[in-house]
Amino acid sequence: MNSKIKKILKKKNKSKIICLTAYSKNIAEEVDKYTDITLVGDSLGSVLYNYKTTRKVTLINMIDHSKSVRLGVKKSLMVVDMPYKTYSSNNSALKNAKKIIKETKCDAVKLEGGKNIINQIKILVKNKIPVMGHLGLLPQTAKGKFKSKGRTAKEKKQLINDALLLQSSGVFAIVLECVKTFTAKQITQTLKIPTIGIGSSVYCDGQVLVTDDLIGLNNTNIKFVKKFVNIKKNINLGLKKFTIEVKSKKYPSKKHSY
Ligand code: KIV
Repeated sequence: MNSKIKKILKKKNKSKIICLTAYSKNIAEEVDKYTDITLVGDSLGSVLYNYKTTRKVTLINMIDHSKSVRLGVKKSLMVVDMPYKTYSSNNSALKNAKKIIKETKCDAVKLEGGKNIINQIKILVKNKIPVMGHLGLLPQTAKGKFKSKGRTAKEKKQLINDALLLQSSGVFAIVLECVKTFTAKQITQTLKIPTIGIGSSVYCDGQVLVTDDLIGLNNTNIKFVKKFVNIKKNINLGLKKFTIEVKSKKYPSKKHSY
């Protein structure tokens, strides 16, 4: 097993796992200093391309951004989202996962779903491709308004069953998105592998957020997003200073001219 995955598994019940997204080298370089898992999420569709859903994100989009991220990731585990409809069958899942790994040199892939994609997950694991699961709110297939999951006893039971199925199929961790606190807590306590929460309470073994959201580069009003810093303020400061110096002919000085 990948030594980075081993390290992440050992954190269960000991210390929190950090997972952050990156879509390019420069952000990846900073993220990599703090995170256990760098995720090239297909959220890049909405964050960078303004798509209403992640369904328009292509394999080429994911591979291109991942190649850039690879340049910035030195120590964390690099996971790449398999985009919508690239793992509809066992054959396409294996072919596309192999392509992602070969072209981006990432460590693992992430797929959204439970029982419905269990054969695809099994085939990847059998072929020694590390897989991260994703349950709860599944942005690739969510219809209509985004709402929390695991709210009723029936939904809770189904999520626990899906989580157990993913675990027995060999995924090394599961993202729980927008899962009700009591359900996320029980899944986390039931599983031997870690859960990584997003809007799914403090009881998960780790937390993931879209980096652009938490640094205030992307404006969103999603309930689970906390803006830890407003990076736009600094960007604007730099751009304003540049504009002032160009207009006043202070820049470029001799030092910055050939
Ligand atoms: O696409 C993504 O960035 C994700 C995380 C937010 C979990 O799947």
